[in-house]
Amino acid sequence: MWYKSLLELIGRTPLVQLNSVTRGVPSTVLAKVEYFNPGHSVKDRIALKMVEEAEQAGQLRPGGTIIEATSGNTGMGLALVAAIKGYRCIFTVPDKQSKEKIDALRALGAEVIVTPTNVPPDDPRSYYSVAKRLAQEIPGAFYPNQYDNLHNRQAHYETTGPEIWEQTEGRITHFVAGMGTTGTICGVAQYLKERNPAIQVIGVDTYGSLFQKLHETGQIDPKEIYPYLTEGIGEDIVPANLDLSLIDRIIKVTDRNGALMARKLARYEGLFVGWSSGSAVWAALQVAKELSPKDVVVVLLPDHGTRYLNKIYNDGWMRTQGFLETTSELTVRRVLETKNRKTPGLATVSPADPLRKAVELMQRYEISQLPILEEGRIYGILTESRLIEVLMDDPLAKDQPVQRYMADPPAIVLPSTPVDIVSKMLTREMPAVLVQLEDGGWDILTRSDILHALVDTTM
Ligand SMILES: Cc1ncc(COP(=O)(O)O)c(C=O)c1O
Repeated sequence: MWYKSLLELIGRTPLVQLNSVTRGVPSTVLAKVEYFNPGHSVKDRIALKMVEEAEQAGQLRPGGTIIEATSGNTGMGLALVAAIKGYRCIFTVPDKQSKEKIDALRALGAEVIVTPTNVPPDDPRSYYSVAKRLAQEIPGAFYPNQYDNLHNRQAHYETTGPEIWEQTEGRITHFVAGMGTTGTICGVAQYLKERNPAIQVIGVDTYGSLFQKLHETGQIDPKEIYPYLTEGIGEDIVPANLDLSLIDRIIKVTDRNGALMARKLARYEGLFVGWSSGSAVWAALQVAKELSPKDVVVVLLPDHGTRYLNKIYNDGWMRTQGFLETTSELTVRRVLETKNRKTPGLATVSPADPLRKAVELMQRYEISQLPILEEGRIYGILTESRLIEVLMDDPLAKDQPVQRYMADPPAIVLPSTPVDIVSKMLTREMPAVLVQLEDGGWDILTRSDILHALVDTTM
């Protein structure tokens, strides 16, 4: 059995469960891994659809030229389709794009024009304007215009949406995807909501982009538009593919959180994905944390990590951006942010609760110490080693109140406390400190949390 061309391999990407970054998340989180497309991104789908529709409509004829403004991946998809079908390609690319993406386009035979990022979209130098002008000037040119070409959305309505519905056997309850041209999210949302209107659709936006404010207020707020680094998501224009009525909620993700999550996906799930995939999973986890075990969250991962080797996968670059800290800069707040939580909040027991309840909680959440708390007051702490001692001595103690066996509360620190101070406070006997949060609540920080943060956010 063989394929007649690579074009037959576009789509039908796998859905893979996330198992590590989802610790403590009650619902199932499934990733639609789009780097399995032959051009290594979700954009192969729309490239093929837009070209085929143009051929049918007579807009693209043999010997024709495809001209597009692209952040890289659409170019890759178009270049691949064009290479197979024999068209010439010219792409305009904003200068913030990874050099790897531009080199890859050239490898596939495309001509690439790099344009300034920090000019308004209607500036004649912008990548939208240059592409439009070239399309008018070059005879036989076809300008797919992924932003306003509704075949973009249609490609996802016809392929990505049905695939997700079938792969989850209709069990999907939430769909999370980045918003760039919005073709992916709107096409998939339209299909899924037709099948089950209760499915919630969550868009992922960047700081510096207009989508979230537009969704909330119906207004474009120029103050919301400023430069940012994440590639592929966020916009300073409203694409024709956007249908806000299909989107229930939009979450903004910082460049840093997206980058760190992408690195986690590579390290802990073996998913070597791009920056915006990190942003999408970061947002999906915010959603998934609040759901129940019967919920099924599908998050779409648009592209592959190789295109970001000189950026988010380069420790030196990450440091220059301030995305990785030196150990002396690491604070309790940062450790809490990166904590691999198995509990939705802080697990605690009351002084009068029986020991068996403490044991149950420790087993369920795989934790080794449990604060004893009532009405916001800390009474003490139970450690795993103390519990073993007590229960070895007297198995009947399991029905006794925890207050009889608890140790004095550990040291209390603040979110702003540097971690090098905290690490000196932790001992074998008391491997945790309590953190008094700004809102009066409590959290706990253990030796393993610090270890985890040292590996994840520093170099
Ligand atoms: C890396 C990456 N992530 C996400 C997206 C967003 O997808 P869409 O344009 O369908 O909204 C894109 C689109 O350019 C992208 O290149």
